[in-house]
Amino acid sequence: MSFQLKPGLLLGAATSATQIEGGELDHNWNDWYRCGWIKDGSDPARATDHYHRWREDADLMADLGLQVYRFGIEWARICPTPERVDEAAIAHYREEITYLRKKGIKLLLTIHHFTNPMWFEERGGFLKKENLRYFLDFTELVVRSFGDLVAEYITINEPNVYATNSYYFGDWPPGKKSFSKALTIMANLAYCHIRSYELIHKIRREMGYQNTKVSLAHHLRVFDPANPKNLRHRIYAKLLDYFFQGLITQAIFFGKFIWPLKAPARVERGEYADFIGLNYYTRSTISQFNDGVRAGAPKNDLGWEIYPEGLIRCAEKLYGLLARPIYITENGTCDNQDAFRCRYLYDHLKAVCESALPIERYYHWCFCDNFEWSEGESARFGLVHVDYPTQQRTVKKSGTFFAAIIKEGGVSQELYDEYVGAEKYPY
Ligand code: BGC
Repeated sequence: MSFQLKPGLLLGAATSATQIEGGELDHNWNDWYRCGWIKDGSDPARATDHYHRWREDADLMADLGLQVYRFGIEWARICPTPERVDEAAIAHYREEITYLRKKGIKLLLTIHHFTNPMWFEERGGFLKKENLRYFLDFTELVVRSFGDLVAEYITINEPNVYATNSYYFGDWPPGKKSFSKALTIMANLAYCHIRSYELIHKIRREMGYQNTKVSLAHHLRVFDPANPKNLRHRIYAKLLDYFFQGLITQAIFFGKFIWPLKAPARVERGEYADFIGLNYYTRSTISQFNDGVRAGAPKNDLGWEIYPEGLIRCAEKLYGLLARPIYITENGTCDNQDAFRCRYLYDHLKAVCESALPIERYYHWCFCDNFEWSEGESARFGLVHVDYPTQQRTVKKSGTFFAAIIKEGGVSQELYDEYVGAEKYPY
């Protein structure tokens, strides 16, 4: 019951701007809240007030010994209108980034993580080909503003999750329910990733830097048939895997737009990722054209199966397509009482360390509890507990465990006994 960290593997945490910063901004999530669509009624304008408490959070990250940190910046804050750039917001982020760098934390900046300014949304968002230039302008602004401080970028977070939740299931803004629109969004986001990838490299080259790394945070899950002997289950599992992740993977990594994905403009075939960015959470068990959860399997507080092996299965799948270093750009679980997160960490990190794949980074989702999109504040994913009314931060047992893993370079039998031994997954 122990393991050592892989040589070269760096450990840290991830966040996204909207989920932690707070602020009365004119973006699609504040709008979605005003329309009454957040399940527990919580307001993203509160979140964890990180925009004002960033120094305290950065200090806490350093105290925990985090080596790497993936974070986002808020488009609607920097560009409140298409024409206006808020220089004060840029100065704010520069101060925060500089502070984190001084703490010795290596940064990975996410440009787009689900949230759009309302002016972009009202023009039709990523659905309209003519709007895509706004995102590319924003990429350019980001790299010109922070390119001297940040070498590593994620262009877009989970385009497949954004496309399906916002345009197929209609659970996220703008609440559309259309298969063809979801496909258009996937194609347009893949196109944006490629152009953004090229732009970031071009601008950083012009700035004189050679060490730029760019990728996308790709959400992959395992789709397994409920009964492997059942042909219908197997076919549905393959179809879901293909439409949710197979198709778009070809487009983002290689510029290969296979029907029914249609590129909004000409794209050269190529390789558009310097590392593999993988967000992994769960497995889907399939018996029909719908998401399902395996009977009798361990589940987190949102009912998602806990399946550590899946992390490696997904990483292997991507690595088989494109042999690049792997960053686990997100992995974590909703555990409202912090009752099994230590076990979750142990199982997933052990799988990483026992795998022969070149996994170089592990970013736990999330550094702190945060605004969990349509679940609001009720779903807790953090290593650090946030008491929302007072904004008091308290390191959870799992946060202390994670810090100990970093410090000791692995999990010894003593650490296992202290943190993991007594924890059990819910079923
Ligand atoms: C997203 C995060 C989210 C997490 C947990 C990922 O799909 O990138 O923003 O909080 O999953 O649901």
